[in-house]
Amino acid sequence: MKRYNVPEISEGVFWVGIKDFNRRIFDALIPLPQGTSYNAYLVKGKEKTALIDTVNPGFEKELIEKIGQITDPTDLDYIVMNHAEPDHANAIPYMMQASKEAVLITTEKGAKMAKIFHRVQDERIKTVKDGDAIELGGKTLKFIEAPMLHWPETMFTYLIENKVLFPCDFFGAHTAFGIYDEDVEEIIPVAKRYFGEIMMPFRNMGKKALDKIKDLEIKIIAPSHGPIYKNPERILEAYRKWTAGETKQKAIVVYVSMWNSTEAMIKTMVETLLSEGIEISLYNLPHADIGEIAKDLVDSRAIVLGMPTVLGGMHPIAMNAANLVKVLHPPLKYGAILSSYGWAGGALRQALEILGSTKIEVVGTLEINGPPSADDHQKIVEMGKQLSNKIKSER
Ligand code: FEO
Repeated sequence: MKRYNVPEISEGVFWVGIKDFNRRIFDALIPLPQGTSYNAYLVKGKEKTALIDTVNPGFEKELIEKIGQITDPTDLDYIVMNHAEPDHANAIPYMMQASKEAVLITTEKGAKMAKIFHRVQDERIKTVKDGDAIELGGKTLKFIEAPMLHWPETMFTYLIENKVLFPCDFFGAHTAFGIYDEDVEEIIPVAKRYFGEIMMPFRNMGKKALDKIKDLEIKIIAPSHGPIYKNPERILEAYRKWTAGETKQKAIVVYVSMWNSTEAMIKTMVETLLSEGIEISLYNLPHADIGEIAKDLVDSRAIVLGMPTVLGGMHPIAMNAANLVKVLHPPLKYGAILSSYGWAGGALRQALEILGSTKIEVVGTLEINGPPSADDHQKIVEMGKQLSNKIKSER
């Protein structure tokens, strides 16, 4: 019985991955409104068969059953580990137990991780370096080291004859929907959100990886999350922009307000920026999806942070957001901070400490006692105009 849909994405290449429609959080941090997929691929040559990556814990049986619809799952020759993170590598021990002759292919750093995380024995690991290849019979897998995308051991695999690139997390998207990019109406925003969450801190390494693959002829990009790109140019073009840190005349505004004083300040700032023609993404933090914030950080040129003082410092939700901005390394250039307090300040000082350790130029700040006065609103209008001029001063 053929229970599963196991599409042949290119001649002799089968998608044997998992659609996890019900998963709602990743890394105990990132919301997954559309679930996700763990894409694994079976490549059948004339003589040998390779499995490229595996799946998340709990889906081992489904993986082996899908492989079983194509070939004998106890007779794999190679398991390629592009990345050691458990969402792709946790089923490696299971598959190596099933296929007792299978050899694990990975980078030198990957070998170390395979031993620690997945208890793979030395004698069953073959390490590869940049440019190494293995023959499957009419199909050649070439390996491209792509460190820090987003772990140190990561590599891409390129199937030369079919011109298929398997880049693991790079070019990924957290959605369980669609097999191919054309099946998802708006895939680029989903991919952008994923980039913001996972790849943005490693933009420079991403640029290097794009440079490494620029001369490859690529017909299909088959990442490890989300749809497979039959039209690779549109995700390649998006990644060129995102890794280069290209920003728009756009400000992301993130705030929290307890008794509306900060919100009133933010409203004036937003009205000013809009009147100056600046695109705005606005997030009221207690109700915000941090994945959407990560997405808008990818191409925003400025950030406005608003929060009250609570117990001598930043409201904890704002502190969390500011720290997130810091670690995601977005290409933000300018910032402004608006804050209010009941009887003593402290939030502004703390926000400046956090943003001070980034490359963001803080254009203006205002910390007030209680709700904003007419004079305060005027100061915010002036600050908004100044911030707009900075945003518009570069292309
Ligand atoms: Fe999808 Fe880094 O694992």
